[in-house]
Amino acid sequence: MVCLNGVSNRFTMGRRAVPDSGGNEKISEAAIGGLADNSAVKIWPMDVGLRGQPIPWRVFTARCGPAVSALKCATSLEVCMSLKGKHALVTGSSRGIGRGIALKLAERGARIAVHYYQNQDAAKSTLTKIRECGSDGFVVQGNVCHPEEVSRIFKHVESEFGSLDIFVSNARTEAPTFYQPPMEITLDKWDTAVDSQAKAFLVGVREAARLMPAGGRIIAITFAPGGRFGSWQPWVAMGAAKAAMEVLARYFAVALAGRGITVNTISPGWIEDSVLNSLPSTVQDTIRDWHKGGWTPMGRLGTPADVGNSVALLCSDEANWITGQLIDVDGGASLMDAHLPLEIQQAVPKATKSA
Ligand SMILES: NC(=O)c1ccc[n+]([C@@H]2O[C@H](COP(=O)([O-])OP(=O)(O)OC[C@H]3O[C@@H](n4cnc5c(N)ncnc54)[C@H](OP(=O)(O)O)[C@@H]3O)[C@@H](O)[C@H]2O)c1
Repeated sequence: MVCLNGVSNRFTMGRRAVPDSGGNEKISEAAIGGLADNSAVKIWPMDVGLRGQPIPWRVFTARCGPAVSALKCATSLEVCMSLKGKHALVTGSSRGIGRGIALKLAERGARIAVHYYQNQDAAKSTLTKIRECGSDGFVVQGNVCHPEEVSRIFKHVESEFGSLDIFVSNARTEAPTFYQPPMEITLDKWDTAVDSQAKAFLVGVREAARLMPAGGRIIAITFAPGGRFGSWQPWVAMGAAKAAMEVLARYFAVALAGRGITVNTISPGWIEDSVLNSLPSTVQDTIRDWHKGGWTPMGRLGTPADVGNSVALLCSDEANWITGQLIDVDGGASLMDAHLPLEIQQAVPKATKSA
């Protein structure tokens, strides 16, 4: 956010975002970097107002001061956050959270290997959206429950990209293949869960490391509550499989630290436009109401874009000292405590709020 004449505006940065309005001086990345501190500049606000309403393009003229200094910083920050020239593989990016991650990485310029299992059309549609963001990539198929197929996915990536900078292990086998409570679960279902997460990650990281230069990023997508608690009984196999993957991430973080490669785990809360939408609508509504009601302090479910943003942050150069960590990306849901009723936990009880 940049303040100009007391009005708070979000400014567009970079060549693509600045409007090409006739005759007006344009601010490009290069121009901002080279501005002296007293020159006159023109600044275009984004075409969205403070309340989200569209506003017409206007040009503000200002003397270089704090606003332009902030613009300079923001522009150089954008350059740092750029993933131009990077190659990424996101497993399970045909839809859901994986698609959200692929699009956020593509927005920053990374080329993406869009992985799918059965839905080739969905994967192609992700690739189309990636191209609309100005990036590119290809689609690659494979069942992550089979180690030889995981290796084949990486061979395909190697033949297309030659090297790999970012590996996001996001794919998860469908619920009917593992969803059974601990006293009944078959060994086949147990194995499917573990193979799709821990074993796929074990094989995937070793393949990725083969293709990764210094500065590489490896990120596993987990659901940490499944490993911490025991209440969601039919989740036992996936909870154990994700927990094993989280442990592996810490061991790989140490193993690859000397090469400047970071390995982290992100644990999203419940996310819209994901497996959630395959549940009966009454179950979906119950989950949404639960979180809006206070069990997620931010009062909403997450989105694939929220998770994509957190992955993109970990892929930035500035995140090069963060490794071996499990990061909850859940609007604060993991901070709530099941030992106490919600009204007592809330910092400001509802009654006081409305008073
Ligand atoms: N949804 C949530 O609220 C939530 C919360 C926390 C963590 N997570 C984690 O986030 C990740 C993505 O979840 P999601 O809800 O976005 O999933 P989703 O919408 O169900 O999509 C699953 C993805 O995995 C692929 N896939 C399914 N079975 C596979 C297999 N055997 N081999 C390879 N790929 C396979 C699918 O490919 P096809 O399209 O080709 O079938 C699809 O791209 C998972 O690891 C999940 O545990 C989800």
